[in-house]
Amino acid sequence: MDKDFEMSSGTFVRMDFDGLTGADSCEDDEHDQRVEVDPLAIEQLVAAAPLPAPKAQRPRSMVGVIGDSDSLVEVYRLVDRIAETMCTVLVTGESGTGKELVARAVHDSSSRGARPFVAVNCGAIPEALLESELFGHVRGAFTGAVAHKTGRIAAAQGGTLFLDEIGELPLSLQVKLLRVLQTHEYSPVGDARTLKADVRIVAATNVDLESAVATGAFREDLYYRLNVIHVHLPPLRDRREDVPPLVRRFVDSSATRVGREVPRMSAAAAELLLSYAWPGNVRELENSIERAVLLCQDGVIEPRDLPARVAGLGAERRAATSLPDGGMDLRAAVESFENDLIRQALSRTGWNKNQAARLLGLNRTTLVEMLKRKRMVRAA
Ligand SMILES: Nc1ncnc2c1ncn2[C@@H]1O[C@H](COP(=O)(O)OP(=O)(O)OP(=O)(O)O)[C@@H](O)[C@H]1O
Ligand SMILES: [Mg+2]
Repeated sequence: MDKDFEMSSGTFVRMDFDGLTGADSCEDDEHDQRVEVDPLAIEQLVAAAPLPAPKAQRPRSMVGVIGDSDSLVEVYRLVDRIAETMCTVLVTGESGTGKELVARAVHDSSSRGARPFVAVNCGAIPEALLESELFGHVRGAFTGAVAHKTGRIAAAQGGTLFLDEIGELPLSLQVKLLRVLQTHEYSPVGDARTLKADVRIVAATNVDLESAVATGAFREDLYYRLNVIHVHLPPLRDRREDVPPLVRRFVDSSATRVGREVPRMSAAAAELLLSYAWPGNVRELENSIERAVLLCQDGVIEPRDLPARVAGLGAERRAATSLPDGGMDLRAAVESFENDLIRQALSRTGWNKNQAARLLGLNRTTLVEMLKRKRMVRAA
């Protein structure tokens, strides 16, 4: 049975079309890679033209999940099939693709759905604390252990334990997790007792665990135990048809959250959103829309309301400018170009330096230093 699942999950593994391996590795050039945009998709964003009807028989587990691309629907079909089993699930995909959403869907669609879903970010908790966080400890187990502490495994009893960023789990704890997976048993720190772990484990990672196994950073036996069912989330650039419904949903929800009228989308902004490569995937899209809803004026989202890299400023910066026959003062030209854009950002945001810095892709402190150096002040 497991073999069958593994084979179907194998269809989700795909090569990145442009060799990008993740948000962090993207150079500006790669951000600027654009694709041609389907005019119907622009219509869907600008005029709120109807989105295609949802696929017949959307997977049951897709509750609250936006998008109807074949590859996303396939992911949730697999979730439907495996939710009821106790099997361990490994969710992989670039940052921001929706791995935690899948983990929750696995939990919610299983018979454990009414029991706790407990998430632990293995990369965010210092190694010294992670063991007692997961397994708990008894009083006096180590200096500072002044009271008994219940671990997250105990907190997730009967439910699901979501181990996020599993690639960051220290080797010493990998052995202990392996024991939980093999025998469903564990011992709190400093406790001789053996306790039962009635948890279903779902793990997620955006690093290539196979390479981590090859370098010895991740135990091979644990990798195979975790990887019983592999669910891979494709990057957003490989399922672009999901962008219009996601944008529509995020515009609505952001406007509701800040108590504004739902803004319209200009055709130019729609084109940028649809052609951008979204290296930070759905999370980057969500943040960009939230910001645009806050910054937009007169109820219309324009390119200027989008983050600089989405708005294609990277490409503009390199746009060829013709060199005058008689030559030029390059430094002065660059300075004036820079000053002009800074002034525009400041005037558009009413001299709100936080927002202006964001529009320019700078840190606030960098912008403040530049203003000081350039002696730019707000006109009285
Ligand atoms: N298909 C989707 N429909 C609606 N919201 C989505 C979808 N995919 C992702 N999101 C939203 O995007 C954000 C990022 O998703 P999530 O946290 O699940 O990603 P992740 O893969 O775990 O990211 P990271 O690797 O950065 O932890 C969340 O706010 C999530 O609700
Ligand atoms: Mg996550």
